[in-house]
Amino acid sequence: MTNPLPRPMIIDTDGGVDDALAIVMALNSEHIDLKAITVLAGNIDVHQAAKNVLRVIDIVGPEQSPLVAKGCTKPLVNPPFYAAGIHGSDGLGELDQFKNADGSPRYPALTTEAATEDAVEVLLKAAKAYGNDLTIVALGPLTNLAMALEKDRPTLQKVGRIVIMGGAVKVPGNISAAAEFNFFVDPHAAQVVMESGIPLTLVGLDVAMQAPLARKDVEAYAQQNPSNVSQFIVDCTGIYMAFYRENEGFHGCYLHDPLAVGVAINSSLVTTEPVYMVVETEGRFTSGMSLADLRDRRDEATFPPNVDACLGVDTERFLKLFYDLIQP
Ligand code: BDR
Ligand code: CA
Repeated sequence: MTNPLPRPMIIDTDGGVDDALAIVMALNSEHIDLKAITVLAGNIDVHQAAKNVLRVIDIVGPEQSPLVAKGCTKPLVNPPFYAAGIHGSDGLGELDQFKNADGSPRYPALTTEAATEDAVEVLLKAAKAYGNDLTIVALGPLTNLAMALEKDRPTLQKVGRIVIMGGAVKVPGNISAAAEFNFFVDPHAAQVVMESGIPLTLVGLDVAMQAPLARKDVEAYAQQNPSNVSQFIVDCTGIYMAFYRENEGFHGCYLHDPLAVGVAINSSLVTTEPVYMVVETEGRFTSGMSLADLRDRRDEATFPPNVDACLGVDTERFLKLFYDLIQP
């Protein structure tokens, strides 16, 4: 169902290309009251990720800008693992390469900066202030959320729901045969969040890979709807989409993170199944794998479902929402 009123929300993100598209949607949605964007290391280091978020806010130009706060610089246990080869060396399609007709940079240096407050504090303060009304949409590794739980579990447990882009239930991983990228980068944090007792909706690869955006469609859209936002979408997705063309033979990309925002706006876009899920933290070949107990004879008393896993998506309705929300 669609939220009737603007609901308080925080986006927790690692500042990559599909994160940027998701933030555009959230900033433009009348159903979302975006209180803050908390940032962490994932696709790229946390400082560049925060710059990327500020860039998106600058381009969209909302009436009221959400607070941007930097958080974890690395995963709980593992060393950082970036995805610059997929998202570009700046995590956002290498925006410095684009020039205006007069040779000036199309994306000049930003004049805005992240807040001095720590992202983990921002998450806890919001949980205290908005409690059950607050939805957190997590678009990167779950390190900030795990740290917030470790710092003050009862307070974070007040939030209504966390919508997580991460994991995979019945399909293979993407960064490895077993693991989806966000869970692979910080499997320990993902497991902490799985055990949090907070209502969790998992927007995993089962549904994210059913939400493709073709290069030709983005280019046609931008031609028909010229604006700073549509130009930015064409620019920032170039390298990301080339990665898919070279590796999967599909010139386009999957809208992983935008789908998570879509689900937070309108849960009827997906069908879900409650499952008991754990995340592998040790496996030699399976680190970051999200393991859902799908056995018929599973023992629900000992292992109660901890996740609503999205297994089906109405792609057409989601893409309509996506296009509606990237309009300037
Ligand atoms: C996830 O990995 C990241 O690279 C994307 O931004 C998305 O959050 C998809 O596996
Ligand atoms: Ca992401």
